[in-house]
Amino acid sequence: MSTTDNVALPVAPADGKLGVVCVGLGAVATTFIAGVELIRRGMAEPIGSLTQMGTVRLGKRTDDRSPAVTELVPLAGLDDIVFGAWDPYPDDAYVSALNAGVLDAARHLEPIGDTLRAIRPMPAAFDPSYVKKLDGPNVKPSRSKRELLEGIRDDLRAFREEHDADRLVMIWCASTEIFVDLGPVHADIDAFNAAIDADDTDITPSMLYAYAALLEGVPFANGAPNLTVDVPALRDFASANGVPICGKDFKTGQTLIKTVLAPMFKARMLGMAGWYSTNILGNRDGEVLDDPESFRTKETSKLGVLDTILQPDTYPTLYGDMHHVVRINYYPPRGDNKEGWDNIDFFGWLGYPMQMKVDLLCRDSILAAPLALDLALFLDLAQRAGMSGIQEWLSFYFKAPQVAPGLYAEHDLFIQQTKLKNTLRWIAGEDQITHLGVEYYADDYLPDD
Ligand SMILES: NC(=O)c1ccc[n+]([C@@H]2O[C@H](COP(=O)([O-])OP(=O)(O)OC[C@H]3O[C@@H](n4cnc5c(N)ncnc54)[C@H](O)[C@@H]3O)[C@@H](O)[C@H]2O)c1
Repeated sequence: MSTTDNVALPVAPADGKLGVVCVGLGAVATTFIAGVELIRRGMAEPIGSLTQMGTVRLGKRTDDRSPAVTELVPLAGLDDIVFGAWDPYPDDAYVSALNAGVLDAARHLEPIGDTLRAIRPMPAAFDPSYVKKLDGPNVKPSRSKRELLEGIRDDLRAFREEHDADRLVMIWCASTEIFVDLGPVHADIDAFNAAIDADDTDITPSMLYAYAALLEGVPFANGAPNLTVDVPALRDFASANGVPICGKDFKTGQTLIKTVLAPMFKARMLGMAGWYSTNILGNRDGEVLDDPESFRTKETSKLGVLDTILQPDTYPTLYGDMHHVVRINYYPPRGDNKEGWDNIDFFGWLGYPMQMKVDLLCRDSILAAPLALDLALFLDLAQRAGMSGIQEWLSFYFKAPQVAPGLYAEHDLFIQQTKLKNTLRWIAGEDQITHLGVEYYADDYLPDD
């Protein structure tokens, strides 16, 4: 079948249970898990989730056809999800959610306390040299990378059996690891395996989780900026083994705003002298990012966005001399409630300078949780549809989208949304929507025969 045929992909039905295993049982993971439980008990609405609330327009604007995403493509139902997790801290999901302080305990944790307490983290493949600020006791005993890899694979098989799960999806919701350069050990799967056996420091714990997932045929999404599955060895292995992957770094706060505003300046051909972004946050993620080596991983992910959208090489007069700065400061009083400020120095006609200030007071995990849900459901869909390797259509959810070699990433949120919805139309065998729209003006625009 060609990619341009209007034929629905043969998608296996979403029967049975979907196991969603989260690496990390911190603020994002517990907010995600608690939210799904509250929604399935009818105690909350899935606000922020495209899979649960979104629609996709089909056909012409006059056709009045806009099915829900769940009607257009077969997704697993929320009632069919079972959760698991790993974390170096032994707290169950209830205690961890309480510590994270995101959700109101009386309103949103107590009523589902039984479900949350039953989710206890499996011992983590954890090495404090990759996340300098943490050191928990719930870890796998071995230091050997090969044994850690095999331990994660065993966990996946045991989880699948214990919960009678038909399919699994793994999501990295764990801390940001220190910056690791792409190196020769990541070039292909043979070099990667040799490096595992040599306990090479360039093989990070997140790469072991991702590789374990791929070996077990489990789709993998990376919510943090670590390279993880974004290395040639694992990318090629995912394609060869028919497993979908996507990443990196959930696009939730400041970068979400940036990828909406920057395309606006560019679309109007307005120039940019500088964009200064700073954040304060006080959760454990903020504490980890206080370490310069973890911050470097995040900074790389956040900085790439503007250059790709504004294309300074193509528009040197407008963007050739732009100063882009990103700062994150750990400030405990704010907890999970991040504040992000942006100061944008832009210029217009005849070079006259102007400014825009954005002050975003958001809740980090409240924005991230629905993304984790959508990614789990869409990755499972991709696998049932036979789509393997990089799922670029899910770049909508990421700050540093993983793309095929030789491609630049699309960062513009609305291009990403179009790509996502067109992919859903393509899976369902429906026409793409190009927004050309001449068909509504045929009498005016087209020559008479
Ligand atoms: N919340 C957002 O808006 C957002 C946006 C983009 C990216 N992220 C990323 O998502 C991740 C999770 O964020 P969070 O706020 O939940 O952080 P968190 O610190 O609350 O939770 C992370 C958890 O991961 C655990 N962990 C660390 N290394 C591990 C390992 N090797 N194996 C298993 N568990 C491990 C930690 O113990 C911790 O409990 C972070 O990397 C963060 O940068 C979050």
